Amino acid sequence: MDDIVTQVVSNRQIAPGYHVMVLRAPGYPDVVQPGQFVMLRIGSGNDPLLRRPFGIFRCYDVDGGAVVELLYKVAGRGTAMMAAMRAGAEVALLGPLGSGFAPVAARRQVLVAGGIGVAALYLLARQLREQEQQVELLLGGRSSDDIVAAAEFEALGVTVRCASEDGSCGHKGYVTDLLDGAGDAAVYACGPMPMLHAVARLCRRYDLPLQVSLEARMACGVGACLGCVVAGAGHSEQQPRYLCTCTSGPVFDAAALEWPEEGGAHE
Ligand code: FES
Repeated sequence: MDDIVTQVVSNRQIAPGYHVMVLRAPGYPDVVQPGQFVMLRIGSGNDPLLRRPFGIFRCYDVDGGAVVELLYKVAGRGTAMMAAMRAGAEVALLGPLGSGFAPVAARRQVLVAGGIGVAALYLLARQLREQEQQVELLLGGRSSDDIVAAAEFEALGVTVRCASEDGSCGHKGYVTDLLDGAGDAAVYACGPMPMLHAVARLCRRYDLPLQVSLEARMACGVGACLGCVVAGAGHSEQQPRYLCTCTSGPVFDAAALEWPEEGGAHE
């Protein structure tokens, strides 16, 4: 699979530090699975800082052709350069890549997002709502500034509950405080590793199926550089078991991964 050179349709700030870039992406709506990602290269040359993965936030057909939306947070030189791009600018796009979510039958479908992790969950929510399933989004961040895209999920008919560490939006505390073991539920999560560890522990305790989308540094996105490996279930120093996030993931059944012992991360 090769990069395609494509154009920026629009690029706007939706909250302090958070932006949505819309890109022309011919054919994407027919093939994208919820949870897949793209590799985006901005500028010329091979500077690895200017090539990085983004979860596909939204993807649809419009009059002028198919587009993908990338929801991103400005967190360094590459994303600062992205934020400065205007309509008509050219970028190289590789994808869609990786394996996405495989929804599990359950009475409640519970999505758990930390900060920018919400970007990986929108297409899953849309698919589940198209199947008329009951979907809940637990959305957390440090403050209200980090709680983005709630309105887009609510427009799908998703029930959104927020948590912020400073109490400026919704429940004061961690998003995992909102996760309970009630009823027949399937859980899907994307966010920082400490949050995923806590979600995995709670799902084990409540015996709920869990799929996680991992946010990993990626240089190639196609299994060639091994820069994105994570420990698979049963991994040890004596018997290493590594999985590439880009090709085996970024979405994994939680049971396929090695998780730290109790007590290492917040709940
Ligand atoms: Fe290169 Fe995954 S990013 S192997």
